[in-house]
Amino acid sequence: MAVYIVTGVSGVGKTTIGKLLAQRLNLPFYDADDFHPPENVEKMKNGFPLKDKDRKGWLDVLAENIQNWNKEDGGVLACSALKEKYRKQLTSISERDINWIFLRAGFEVILNRLKSRKNHYFKPELLSSQFKTLEEPKNALQIDVNTSEENIIKEIMAQLETPKAEIGLIGLGVMGKSLTLNLLSKYIQVSVFNRHVPGKEENVAKEFVQEHSGSYTFKGFDDLKGFVSSLKRPKKIILMVNAGPAVDAVIESLLPFLRQGDIITDGGNSHYKDSIRREQVLKEKGIHFIGCGISGGEEGALKGPSIMPGGPLKAYKQVGPILEKIAGKDVNKNACCTYIGPDGAGHFVKMLHNGIEYAEMQLIAEIYHFLRFGMEKNPEEIAKIFTEWNKELQSYLLEISAEILLKKEVDELLLDKILDAAKQKGTGGWSTNAALELGVPLDTISAAVMARIISGKKEDRKQAASIYDRSSQTSEIEVNSILKAYKAASIINHAIGFDLLQNASETYNWNLNYSEIARVWTNGCIIRSALIEELVETYKNHKTHLLLENAMAKKLQSGKKDFSKVVTTILKAGFPVPVLSSAFNYYLGFTAAQSSANMVQAQRDYFGAHTYERTDRPRGEFFHTNWKNNN
Ligand code: 6PG
Repeated sequence: MAVYIVTGVSGVGKTTIGKLLAQRLNLPFYDADDFHPPENVEKMKNGFPLKDKDRKGWLDVLAENIQNWNKEDGGVLACSALKEKYRKQLTSISERDINWIFLRAGFEVILNRLKSRKNHYFKPELLSSQFKTLEEPKNALQIDVNTSEENIIKEIMAQLETPKAEIGLIGLGVMGKSLTLNLLSKYIQVSVFNRHVPGKEENVAKEFVQEHSGSYTFKGFDDLKGFVSSLKRPKKIILMVNAGPAVDAVIESLLPFLRQGDIITDGGNSHYKDSIRREQVLKEKGIHFIGCGISGGEEGALKGPSIMPGGPLKAYKQVGPILEKIAGKDVNKNACCTYIGPDGAGHFVKMLHNGIEYAEMQLIAEIYHFLRFGMEKNPEEIAKIFTEWNKELQSYLLEISAEILLKKEVDELLLDKILDAAKQKGTGGWSTNAALELGVPLDTISAAVMARIISGKKEDRKQAASIYDRSSQTSEIEVNSILKAYKAASIINHAIGFDLLQNASETYNWNLNYSEIARVWTNGCIIRSALIEELVETYKNHKTHLLLENAMAKKLQSGKKDFSKVVTTILKAGFPVPVLSSAFNYYLGFTAAQSSANMVQAQRDYFGAHTYERTDRPRGEFFHTNWKNNN
């Protein structure tokens, strides 16, 4: 039968509540104090705190009794059991069917109670030593005793009767809902919470639970206290709220209900520096924070996203098994989820995933645009070309682009009705900022960000189009050459992205594993492709810039002629190709042993005496010339 152990400091009401609970559960009640040997009782009466050696025999006797009660009629035991090691000792023989109930109250409340008590051998002065000794149990029901006895028993019964959920999810937007259904489909018990905003977000969680009640049993809340207490300890909570201040606000409102060892996982597209800060702040409170990038959109979240968690490894070990269950699977059926590294590493890697995504999207858009309006191919033909290319490239973005080119709305191509002004939520720009901060070139990704910004200037563009003559020169170009240019640009884009990862890893001491990152990106995420699959192997052995790797160098060498021809032809034809051309420029710049920067250095020194290094002197020696003096 079950044994219930009511714990807490002296004076918190263990005996009273224990007895009431025993009555309610129809079980015998035991008071651990009754099992003390006379010498311990004497010590306590005289105001001496017990030492561990005094407790040893007493705890052993209790452990044996607990085992017997377990085997027989069960029982409720009131026992302070303030330290983890005492609790371990109590259950050292029998670990089965034991329910810990921790009664919680502040120091002042108990002190006042103890002062008013009579005929009890515990001296109020011992209370501070009790609070010092107390290590709050993590796996106990947490019961606030600052209320009536009746309410306390009600709360204990409610918590005992409710099976606890393994994990809680806050924020039932598209991604939050899909992730919840994914968790439930893997038999993981979830509780969900969505805020209550009058007139806007009302009963969201309850309605969501209701909607899926035919398939799953789970609980929905719009009060945080109820939500948190529905979770097992340590509480594991995933936040799926908008990146930015909303994340801080939710964390703040959760704090009163969390205890040491609980874990918050932020699954939104948060900035990595926010994740670094949040981890630090929460660490001081004993709460773990995992900044976790999740890619795959609505469908990915539902069927298996790519998951990039960063934070304390200790916390990942507890949440990781759940995340790995819901993640997409790689070719070897391993989860597309791995521990990325400490603090902001997870969100940095997700940010770069999006950076690469921005440039890949723009590349496809540029090529589509030229095929359609430069080469006058119709959307169906372009869809066919993309589908054909994708037999080799296996790119999710190319696949959806082909589908987009076939989507009709009342006999007309939907694409043609979509305004040509791209929006962005920030991750591409953040990647660019990070690159500038770390001094890493990010040509393709920043070009994609700028392309979105220019696209947004629709009115200016329209006006400029009426002013400027856009007549251009056309010349023949093979579709196959465009494929070669696209492949080369894509390699360069990935090389640029991974270069930033490598620099960030060194700066922040994240010790990133690039092969593992590529593996996590092979399924579930937006940039999955045959190239990413290849990078899993490449990065097993290769540690420096991707363009310095033999196989990649060979590919770029063989595609160079087409790449150059495609970029120049399209530009001459008057079509902007910012990402395609910046990839080509990067390629030319990166592979040039001699650059034009000596002229820049000379100019800097000329007007600002900024000094320069010389080719005929060792690096690190700086020179200045008086440029106007010919002697
Ligand atoms: C993903 C996506 C996802 C989202 C981005 C892009 O990996 O699932 O990248 O995170 O689509 O937020 O957003 P913007 O294009 O709006 O910046």
